[in-house]
Amino acid sequence: MKDYKRTLITTALPYANGPVHIGHLAGVYVPADIYARYLRLRGREVVMIGGSDEHGVPITLKAKKEGVTPQDIVDKYHGIIKDAFGRFGISFDVYSRTSSKTHFETASEFFKTLYDKGEFVEKSSQQFYDEENNQFLADRYITGTCPHCKSEGAYGDQCEACGTSLNATDLINPKSAISGNVPVLKETKHWYLPLDKYEPWLKEWILEGHKEWKSNVYGQCKSWLDSGLHPRAVTRDLNWGVPVPVEEAEGKVLYVWFDAPIGYISATKEMTPDWEKYWKDEDTKMVHFIGKDNIVFHCIIFPSMLKAEGSYILPENVPSNEFLNLEGDKISTSRNWAVWLHEYLDEFPGKEDVLKYVLTANAPETKDNDFTWKDFQARNNNELVAVLGNFVNRALVLTNKYYKGVVPALGELTDVDKETLAEIARLKAEVEKSLENYRFREALKFAMDLGRLGNKYLADEEPWKVVKTDPTRVETIMNICLQITANLTIMMEPFLPFTMDKLRGFLNLEKLDWERLGDTALLAAGHEVKKPELLFEKIEDSVIEAQVQKLLDTKKANEMEAAVVAPAKENIEFDDFTKMDIRVGTIIAAEKVAKTKKLLKLEVDTGIDKRTVVSGIAEYYKPEDIIGKQVSILVNLAPKKLRGIESQGMILMAEDADGALRFVSPTDAVKPGSEIR
Ligand code: MF3
Ligand code: ZN
Repeated sequence: MKDYKRTLITTALPYANGPVHIGHLAGVYVPADIYARYLRLRGREVVMIGGSDEHGVPITLKAKKEGVTPQDIVDKYHGIIKDAFGRFGISFDVYSRTSSKTHFETASEFFKTLYDKGEFVEKSSQQFYDEENNQFLADRYITGTCPHCKSEGAYGDQCEACGTSLNATDLINPKSAISGNVPVLKETKHWYLPLDKYEPWLKEWILEGHKEWKSNVYGQCKSWLDSGLHPRAVTRDLNWGVPVPVEEAEGKVLYVWFDAPIGYISATKEMTPDWEKYWKDEDTKMVHFIGKDNIVFHCIIFPSMLKAEGSYILPENVPSNEFLNLEGDKISTSRNWAVWLHEYLDEFPGKEDVLKYVLTANAPETKDNDFTWKDFQARNNNELVAVLGNFVNRALVLTNKYYKGVVPALGELTDVDKETLAEIARLKAEVEKSLENYRFREALKFAMDLGRLGNKYLADEEPWKVVKTDPTRVETIMNICLQITANLTIMMEPFLPFTMDKLRGFLNLEKLDWERLGDTALLAAGHEVKKPELLFEKIEDSVIEAQVQKLLDTKKANEMEAAVVAPAKENIEFDDFTKMDIRVGTIIAAEKVAKTKKLLKLEVDTGIDKRTVVSGIAEYYKPEDIIGKQVSILVNLAPKKLRGIESQGMILMAEDADGALRFVSPTDAVKPGSEIR
């Protein structure tokens, strides 16, 4: 790979409509911080850019709901987010925000440049408009009946029930989600970035030129590129955002996904007048740290913008992570299903590194992962306390006990001593390789191996026994333990910065460069170390139980809220009810419908016959888990084609306000075909 002069690290700008949670941290900020700290420790020129993303429709809606201005919302959350990142020690070189003056100027200029170069396509289209509020409605804020599966509450961009992507104009009985009004269609003009034009170049650049990107990133890009790119509107009818700097664009702003990535550039400008060397010099390596929902924006759209502008460099890599779930459920800001960083910092003072450690050890690098409080406790108690903390503590306590804290001299080395010391350099190489390839959990595992090595060495050499028979030998053993400890302060520094600071304090050691790692004489004989305190403390069951209880309370609150959501329907006659032929059926086969997220194709024994039913339950049930299950099925629903498959009937599901689905099954087995009435 090319030898770059400097690295520009960008971290996805979090939306300032809620605080930051562990999902954000595990996906973006913790790995980016490790990478930045590692490069700095190697003496490389590196900057890490961050900031709040303060535009977009959800912020305006939240403001409306709370009866405040969008600026109030972003001021509040930008404050909370920035403060929490600071306390947590995410080492941004700048943390800015997209409502800043510099950003408005930068984004505006960027648009103007593309506009003047004729890089946009202008198009008029019919969009829904709320006449009472005098505003156009974003797709997400129109709801109606899905034209495909006829479920209520489909959004203007997608039906959550059957997974079909929609245009707002496809909806039956569309309504404004803001006012409940029936919107009218009105003509509006927008500017589009013709992504189709960049498709051949993107194919070459990514599919040929960046085969080394993580497979989840490469795969998503490939699937977008294979299905063909289309022009994408980069302006919106909205009064919150960066105004479109064109005279005829009164009342329009830049689309949030157009202005937000430019926020990386604006933030760099705010950091230094010399910003261009980071953005326009081919010797800069740009790396975007993001979550998986951001891949298309950072690999396809933003690079096309940069390419269209012409003077900017492109990302060298986009190490995107998958998602972190919490106790088995998707993290959700609106459902308050999250561990919030600012709350963690209040509730676990001094344990910043514990969270960093757990989120890295369990990082969703190649697949979605689950955070559980039990795992958090286990990793703290069994790894940080029992391995790392225990080793370091014993090394320092014994040195104090035997030598009053003075580092003893190294005597003659045994083979085990030599092998042990040589292992440090080997682990250094492993950690480097993993970090350079964005494999952070693997890197951390190798770094922890140094702690394990120390623990094992101490346990095997048993200085507390040898001291009675061969005190000179103990000097060598303790010297080696102290050298391992000193090396840990370097190797662990990118991962556990607060703790290594503390440890250097015990060792009376300054912060050493990465290159010193592997040096087996970091502490000279005669150097004095201090009495240690514990690096980590055990986390008790009661603490974990309290956190789990907090989540259970959230769940309960959500359920209670959900319980009041669905209003009672009008009365019907018994005859209306008996028109429905509902039976107990048994699922005899199940498979996913290709290229859909939500659909399963089921074979059901209805007692009457065996038939095919397509059901939107794939997010809640795995095909292999439901074979043999008895379910309720409406058998006389007119057949309907879904994704080319004829669905004969409908499986009845219990649905909560979140849309989570569960089968309605008899409590004891009954004969297929039994009527439900
Ligand atoms: N706010 C977006 C999100 O949370 C990320 C924006 S990244 C940027 O998904 F590149 F646009 F800044
Ligand atoms: Zn639908």
